[in-house]
Amino acid sequence: MTPHEALDDLTRRGLLRSLKPLPDNRGRLVVAGETWLNFCSNDYLDLGHDPALVAASVRAVEDLGCSAAGSRLVSGHLDLHAEFEAKAAAFLGFEAALLFGSGFLANLGAVPALAGEKATIFCDRLNHASLIDGIRMSGMKWHRYRHNDPAHLDELLTKHPAEAGETRLVITDSIFSMDGDAAPLAAVAEAARRHGALLLVDESHAIGVMGPSSKGLCAAFGLKPDAITCGMGKAFGGYGGFVATSATLAALIVNRARSFIYSTGLPPACVGAGIAALDRFAETRGALGDEAMALAKRMHGLLAEAGFEMPPFASPILPVMVGDNHLAQEFAARLAARRILCSAIRPPTVPPGTARLRLTVTRAHTGADLIAARDAFAAVARELGLLP
Ligand SMILES: Cc1ncc(COP(=O)(O)O)c(C=O)c1O
Repeated sequence: MTPHEALDDLTRRGLLRSLKPLPDNRGRLVVAGETWLNFCSNDYLDLGHDPALVAASVRAVEDLGCSAAGSRLVSGHLDLHAEFEAKAAAFLGFEAALLFGSGFLANLGAVPALAGEKATIFCDRLNHASLIDGIRMSGMKWHRYRHNDPAHLDELLTKHPAEAGETRLVITDSIFSMDGDAAPLAAVAEAARRHGALLLVDESHAIGVMGPSSKGLCAAFGLKPDAITCGMGKAFGGYGGFVATSATLAALIVNRARSFIYSTGLPPACVGAGIAALDRFAETRGALGDEAMALAKRMHGLLAEAGFEMPPFASPILPVMVGDNHLAQEFAARLAARRILCSAIRPPTVPPGTARLRLTVTRAHTGADLIAARDAFAAVARELGLLP
C-alpha cells in the first residue's frame, strides 16, 4: 500500500487520526470566545494549573534551565531528580524510585529490565500499549490472560512452568486506561506469588486518585508488588514517568533499561512540578482524589440514569460504548457542536467493535458541568439512535 492508499484505507474504516490544536486544556476552556467543557483530560485533580505546581516548575527552570542536558548516567542526574525519587519512594513505601522521560518510556524500560535474559511474561489482554511494547522489546515469550481474569492467569502460569534460570513476570494495569475498570489486584498478586513470578503494576490512573492518601490501588489493597510504574501526565498534572521498586531491582533497571540509559533526563520543570504534586498528595491526604472520585461517581450515576449502560464504577474514566468507529466519530463531532470536548477512542487503542467515548471527570468540573455533559451525551445518543 502506498502512503496515500494507507491513509484512504484508515479513513474508509473510520480509523484515521489527526491532530486538532486547542488554545488551552483546562476542564473549562475558552475557544474563539466560547466556553467549552473538556471531558477528556487526564488531569483528574486539576493540578496542571495549581499555583504550587506552576511555581515549583518555574523555580526549577529559573534555577536549572530548560534541560537536564544529558542522560542520567552521564551528566543529567540532578539533585532535583534525586529529591523526586526519594520522595516518591517514601510516599509509596518502596526502597527506590527512578524517573523516566514519560510513563511510556518507564514501561518500555522497566519491562525488559525486569525480564532480563530469560523470562516468560504473563500480561492482561487490555494492558496499556507501552507495557505491550515493553514486552515486545524484551523479546521474551509472553502469554495474555483474559482481561481481569486471575483464574485464567493462574491456568497459564500452571501450563507454562518455570524453566531453569527463568524469570516469570506478571504485568497488569491497576486502573485500565480505556475502560476505567480496576484489576482484581489481590487475586492477581496471589497468583503471581503462588507461581514465584514478579509482579509489575502500572498505577498511572490510580496514584493521586485513590487509595489511602491517594497512594494508588495497590495501597488500597495493602499490596506491594515488585515494581509499580506511573505516568505523571495524569493525576500529577505534569509530565514524566517513574518506576518504584526495591533497591536491587532499581539498580538492575539503571543498568538495563534502554529508555533510561540512552535518553536525556527529565527536564527540571517537570521534576519540580512532580515534587510539588507529591507534596499536594501528602498534605491533602487523599482529599483531592476523593473529590475527583466523588464527582466521577456522580457523573457515572447521571449517565446510568440517562439510560447508558455503564460498567460498575471504579475510576474517573467512564466509557460510553458506541461500537462502530464512524458512529463514535460522529458522536464526538456532535458533542463538539455542543461545545463538549470528548474524543472518540477507536481501534487499535481499543479492541475492534468497541469504539467509545472515553469520558473523564476532573476536579475542574462543577455539578452544573456534569449535568450539561449528561444532557449533551443523552441528546446526541438519541439523535444517533443509541438511546430510545
Ligand atoms: C496505563 C498507562 N500507562 C502508561 C501510559 C503512558 O504514560 P505517558 O503519557 O506519561 O507516556 C499511559 C497513558 O498515557 C497509560 O494510560
